[in-house]
Amino acid sequence: MTVEAFMSRHIAEFDPPVRGDPITGERYYAKRWADAEWDKVWKKVWHIGGMAGDLIDAGDFLTHNLGKESVVMLKQNDGSVRAFFNACLHRGYRLAWTEVGGAPQLVCGYHGWRYDPDGTLAHVQDPDDFPGGNPCGKNRLTEVACEIWGGFVWYNMDKDAAPLREWLGETVHDRLSQWQMEKMTRVYAVKSDVPCNWKIVRDNFNESYHLPTLHPQISTSINDGLSDCEFAIFADVGHNMMRMPGLQPSARYPTHQVLDLQLAEALEYWELDPKEFEGNAMAARDAIAAQKRKLGAQKGYAHYEGMGDTEIVDYFHFTLWPNITFTMWPDGVQLLRSEPHPTDPERCIFDHWFMAHQIGDTGLVIGPNGATPYEAVDCETIVFGEKSLGIVADQDLSVAIGQQLGLHSQGFRGGILPNQEKRVQFFHEKLNDVCEIHD
Ligand code: FES
Ligand SMILES: [Fe+2]
Repeated sequence: MTVEAFMSRHIAEFDPPVRGDPITGERYYAKRWADAEWDKVWKKVWHIGGMAGDLIDAGDFLTHNLGKESVVMLKQNDGSVRAFFNACLHRGYRLAWTEVGGAPQLVCGYHGWRYDPDGTLAHVQDPDDFPGGNPCGKNRLTEVACEIWGGFVWYNMDKDAAPLREWLGETVHDRLSQWQMEKMTRVYAVKSDVPCNWKIVRDNFNESYHLPTLHPQISTSINDGLSDCEFAIFADVGHNMMRMPGLQPSARYPTHQVLDLQLAEALEYWELDPKEFEGNAMAARDAIAAQKRKLGAQKGYAHYEGMGDTEIVDYFHFTLWPNITFTMWPDGVQLLRSEPHPTDPERCIFDHWFMAHQIGDTGLVIGPNGATPYEAVDCETIVFGEKSLGIVADQDLSVAIGQQLGLHSQGFRGGILPNQEKRVQFFHEKLNDVCEIHD
């Protein structure tokens, strides 16, 4: 089956009906929604805890704070990774405080209790002073489900959760696997507390209707023309996908035949003559795709071998239920994630990471902010508004505060969505069902 036929099959098959539930403003600020989401969503889904490549020696750990909860993922003596709630069994002090760390034992900063990497309590002060005898060896930190996939450490707080593979679903798992994320390195990672509900960020990444307004600069090299994009909803698992042709100007504009500098440079890089595409910029994509197939391996793009014809030129946005967007570029992946704030439904924690394949020995990769050194980075926490969260992400978030304000208005009546925003509608209807709130 050709890639195009495969995609067409997906579009027909993955276009479930929606009911048209109103998407009222309350869900973006009310505590009852935040409480329901904590119990019915966040405690039940798979989360990315960090980069598997950061765990090398036994005792190395990752910490992920989610809402008021925190989970620590520890490298084991046998090389596997296990995850535990990040709270001391003695009197509850949080054990690990850095996103990445490591020591032979996890030591509590309050009374000095120590835990082995498998969560077993290994040392306490005055062990004979306990009514039941020495508690060491008899107590373990509370474990949560943990898996490694795509270069990430994933965890799920629900001990009865289906395995990650099942949660991803076969189609999404197989399609995402093409990009070989496990071979990538995280070269960019920023985090910020953002003044909007987490779903405002979700809605934004579940539609491309905002591109002409918020991201006009990408219209010269990414085609968001409605009939050229593909959308799919994987109803059984709640995830969705969009594909936009890359290396092609937007079909929305009459000027689309003009070859811009970025596209001309891409043609030259792939040993094509830009002059031949003057007045016919739409043809650049297919020509470059053919060159990538021919020259990819020798130019350092070994990963193209496992990828489909559209994947090596286009942009795919996979949004995993409920809150992870992977924007797949031919040579890298953006993670765009919003998580609940510990106490305020009108704030969220936003993450923007970029993982990339190494291209030859250039030492640089092209990321969301242009040329970026190819080296693993820790996540930088920044104050919203004081520093960039990435050029395009800044544009996306520039409307967040205004939308949060507008959604409080009595005049907002629950949204009027075009068909192309069906993924937004589907997301909220799934949320209504999962949270069991239908008023
Ligand atoms: S709370 Fe951890 S040792 Fe006391
Ligand atoms: Fe955007």
